[in-house]
Amino acid sequence: MYSDKVMEHFKNPKNTGEIPDADGVGTVGNPVCGDLMTMYIKVKDKRITDIKFKTFGCGAAIATSSMTTDMAKGKTLEEALKITRADVATSLGGLPPVKMHCSNLAADALHAAIKDYNKKQEASNEVKK
Ligand code: FES
Repeated sequence: MYSDKVMEHFKNPKNTGEIPDADGVGTVGNPVCGDLMTMYIKVKDKRITDIKFKTFGCGAAIATSSMTTDMAKGKTLEEALKITRADVATSLGGLPPVKMHCSNLAADALHAAIKDYNKKQEASNEVKK
C-alpha cells in the first residue's frame, strides 16, 4: 500500500533533528490526527542552505517530512513557498487516500518556517531604521 519511495524515506529519513540557531521555525499540528511537526531553516541570500525537521507523527508524516526537506534544500524562499502538499505526495509516488492528510503537515510546516523567517527579517529591519 505504500510506494517504495515512501518506504525508503520512512526507513532512512533525511534531515531529521533540530537547528538550534535556525533563521526560521515553523510548527504545525494536524487537525485530523493531532500529530505535530516542526521545521527549522537556515537562510542565506534568500536561499535555504539547511533544513531539518522533527515529527511526532505516523510513518507517512515522517516520509513526507523527509521528502519535503529534500525538495526544499538549496531552493530560494520563493521556490520553496511553491512546494505544495500535492507536489510532496506526487514525488513520493502517491500516498494511500487515508494517508493524504499526513502530507499536509510537511508543506505547511515548511511554509510556516519561511513566514517566520520573513517576519524576523521585517522586525530586524524595523530596528535598523
Ligand atoms: Fe497523523 Fe499521519 S496519522 S500525520
